[in-house]
Amino acid sequence: MLDSASFHFLIKTMADYQAVLDRVIDHIKPLLYQGTVADYIPALAEQSLGQFSIAIQTNDGQSFSAGDIDARFTVQSVSKVMTLTMALQRYGDELWQRVGKEPSGTAFNSLTQLEFENGLPRNPFINAGAIVTCDALYSRLGAPIHTMLEHYRAQSGNDKVKINKRVAQSEFEHRYRNAAMAYLMKSFGNFNNDVEEVLWSYFNYCAIELDCVELAKTFSYLSNQGYCQHSKQQLLTAKQTKQLNSLLFTSGLYDAAGDFAYRVGMPGKSGVAGGIIAVLPNQFTVAVWSPGLDKVGNSVAGIAALEFLSEELGTAIF
Ligand code: DON
Repeated sequence: MLDSASFHFLIKTMADYQAVLDRVIDHIKPLLYQGTVADYIPALAEQSLGQFSIAIQTNDGQSFSAGDIDARFTVQSVSKVMTLTMALQRYGDELWQRVGKEPSGTAFNSLTQLEFENGLPRNPFINAGAIVTCDALYSRLGAPIHTMLEHYRAQSGNDKVKINKRVAQSEFEHRYRNAAMAYLMKSFGNFNNDVEEVLWSYFNYCAIELDCVELAKTFSYLSNQGYCQHSKQQLLTAKQTKQLNSLLFTSGLYDAAGDFAYRVGMPGKSGVAGGIIAVLPNQFTVAVWSPGLDKVGNSVAGIAALEFLSEELGTAIF
């Protein structure tokens, strides 16, 4: 039973979250048409600028949201967090023999470092690192695409979550850079399965389609010591969750991770459809979406929204 002071604190916090999200909408309006949609994946280039949504999922089960909350978008690189989670469940620390933990300081789809570093990707969030993690997962999952989808369905609370097959197919048809990375890793002996099959699973993971509220719910275990309230699963131990959040802080936004850390002060992960998640450990997970991207491939309005939110709520972790 809550005492009166705690009850009033809770009511105030709930009201504050919604009020801040409403103010975020005003704050990002001038940015909505800035940036460009990702055009290296033809099916993603069809997204229109001018859209924005944001959602907070608190550890005590509250959802707050604002903007175009019915809009659905593909998770893209945010999927790399789920892939890593599922690989850590199966391999634990052994996974780090296949992929590093260091920031890359290069673009998410850069190839050069991989050659110099003998086919060992710097971290699991750049494409090469995510693809090798998919390869590891592929070795342990009987039905890799279906199993992944089931996770999203259970964690988002929507059993109708689907893969946007047009986006997956479009990526597969334009897979040259990703295929080059995978084959390069294979040449170094850091790839165990059929490259094309693993790439197909990777593209399907990237093409899972959610709305912003579902995105926040799906990744709410990151702020909740590894426990997902919606699927009622302990996905990671508290220690693994802390480790994953630490890696997101240093590498979740690629060569803009430093700028994101400076501006937002929370661990985060972006995707080229314009989605970003950010985590306030032990409090909430926030998801934001707006398709206009900066040069690095991160949502312009999305980062500005998270910076504003963090400032207004005082949620930077330092
Ligand atoms: O493999 C790709 O290039 C895309 N499916 C995902 C890249 C991505 O989302 C990078 N994030 N900002």
